[in-house]
Formats: sequence, C-alpha cells, structure tokens
Amino acid sequence: MNEEKSTNCLRGLPDTVAFSPDGRALRILDQTRLPGDTVYLDLTEPEEIYEAIKSLRVRGAPAIGVAAAIGLYCAALRFGETDTTRFIEKLKMTADYINSSRPTAVNLSWALGSMVSCADPALGVEENIARLRAKAEELRDADIAACRAIGEYGLTLLHDGAGILTHCNAGHLATTRYGTALAPIHVGRERGMRFRVFCDETRPLLQGARLSAYELCMDGVDTTVICDNMASQVMKNGWVDAVIVGADRIAANGDTANKIGTSGLAILAKHYGIPFYVAVPYSTIDLATATGDDIVIEQRDPAEVSELWYKHRMTPEGVKIYNPAFDVTPAELITAFITDRGIVRPPYKEKLSELFG
Ligand code: MRU
Repeated sequence: MNEEKSTNCLRGLPDTVAFSPDGRALRILDQTRLPGDTVYLDLTEPEEIYEAIKSLRVRGAPAIGVAAAIGLYCAALRFGETDTTRFIEKLKMTADYINSSRPTAVNLSWALGSMVSCADPALGVEENIARLRAKAEELRDADIAACRAIGEYGLTLLHDGAGILTHCNAGHLATTRYGTALAPIHVGRERGMRFRVFCDETRPLLQGARLSAYELCMDGVDTTVICDNMASQVMKNGWVDAVIVGADRIAANGDTANKIGTSGLAILAKHYGIPFYVAVPYSTIDLATATGDDIVIEQRDPAEVSELWYKHRMTPEGVKIYNPAFDVTPAELITAFITDRGIVRPPYKEKLSELFG
C-alpha cells in the first residue's frame, strides 16, 4: 500500500476514486483521514481493496462500485496468468472476495458482476485485461454522467436560498464526482445559487459531520452540522424546505436502504409536511430485490459506537450494543426519487420498472 499526499482537485474537492498515474493501482482518497488530512492510498492487492472498503476508507454506494471495478482490474494485472480459463477463474474468485466486504450497497456486486461478465473465454489474457480496463473506465465515466444528471434533475426541485437537510454523506466523496443527494447543490453552486444545508452528524461514524460538512464548506455552501436528534427541532423551526438523502439499494417496490437513521428522518418529514427525496443513479436500483424486507443490512463492530471517537470507553464494559449500518425507509414515505433518468414519483413499482427494467 503506497501512501501519498495529493493536490489533485476538482473545484477544490479531491478525487475520491481513480487510477494511479501509472494506471496500475487503484487510487483512493482515505476518507477515514478527513477532514484533517488529504491522503491518497494506491492499492493493488485484493486484501488491501477489501480492507479499504470494509473500513470505509472508500465508502458510499457508487464510490465503492467504481473502486471495486478499478481495483479488480489492477489486481488482475498481477495474477501472472497466461491461461485464459485460469485467469477468468481467478477473476471470479477475486471479485467474490471483494464483494464480501460490504453487503448492503448493490453497486458493489453490480460493478463487480459487470467486470466479470465482460471477460471472454475465447480471448487471450492480454485482450481480457484490455477489456477489463475499458469496462472499469466505462463504469467510472457512467457514474460521473449519472451524478451530473441527478444534479440537473434535482435542481428543478429547489429554489435559490432553499434549506436542505441531508443525512450521512451522499456527496462527491461517495461517488466519482458530484454525488447524488448533494449533486443538485454542487451543480446549483456552479450557477451561483445559494443553499442552506443542515448535515446530520450521522452516528456512529459521523459521515455527515466529517464528510458532508467538509465537501459543502469546500464548495462555499452555508453549512450547519446538527446532532441526529436535532433534526425534528430544525424542521419545526421551518428551516428545511426539502430532505435529500442517497441510497444503498432501492428494491423493486421503492423501499430504500440507506444509512441508519434515514427512515426516522422520513417519518419526521412526513409529520412536518416536508418533501423527502432520495437521489440515486441507475446502479443503485435493484429490481431483482422485491421489497425492503429482502435487503441484507450490514451489522458493524460495536466498538464504533462505544469506543471509536472517545478517549475512554464511553459505555459500561459488557453492555450490549446494536450497530446496524443501514435501515430501510418504506416507499410510502418517499416523495420522489431523483434519478439520472428523471424524477420518479409513485406508483414506484410500475415507474421504476418502466425506467430501469
Ligand atoms: O456506510 P457508508 O458511509 O458507505 O454509507 C453511505 C450511505 O449510506 C450513502 O447515503 C449511500 O451509500 C449513497 S452514496 C451516494
């Protein structure tokens, strides 16, 4: 694992996932070091890529999909295989291994599946390597285009000066560029629009306080961090015109898995009559999963709750800790999906299958 400082910026924001300059390693911005340090890691080994995704050095559904695709290509460069059948077997095994790092975001298995299925047993190893490189570039470029489109569509729902509440980080840092939930804000900023954004801190890993606040401040957005339990008060004050969040997997009926705490926000938004939008690219929509009940929710290390941010252990020794990384928001609480193919309103089962089937 090479560690290197980088000054490569997009509108002041560092790239999240990329090829290293020599094209032989996956380069990620280490998000566990933000907002303090801008540090890039160059990864080539499957174990390093697995660790980076599992420990949230790279995180956010679209970003882990693109990272896995570039990472699989870079790992394949080092297989040292000359026989195509054995090369493809190794490719599948490595893809399965990387895929086991996180279960909830469908983008991970989708991107790895796209990579594996582009390998052709009738071709030689070198030609397959070229195909894998092209596919990884295609997935990266498609992610940028989808996020840009989400930004454009999302902007049609917002007015200059709007107050927006968001949860976790579904921004530039969670994708290759622009983000999903934060894409309308970044695109609006390019046009000189102003927004007032409230970022839930997002316990336990603080993606809102550390990451959304960082990227919004870098983009000159009026940003306020609130503890998760303050959202109701902020809504009651009349400061929120819209809630916009991202997603890790949308089931065929519109049920939506996203960062733990999202479903509570949707319930609050309904109470206060505030529109609740979910911004997603096509790669997050999983029509093969019927409803939210079929989505596997990742359970994470209890120490993230009890120890991670504290100088001394914060909970009594031995107390039980429940640490699900995601929850499912029922489709009926979602006002609309902001997708790269347009704004999708109910009935979701029909509309999602029309647009994404
Ligand atoms: O655990 P994380 O930080 O990967 O969770 C991220 C989220 O829940 C995001 O909202 C989601 O992946 C969408 S990112 C565009």
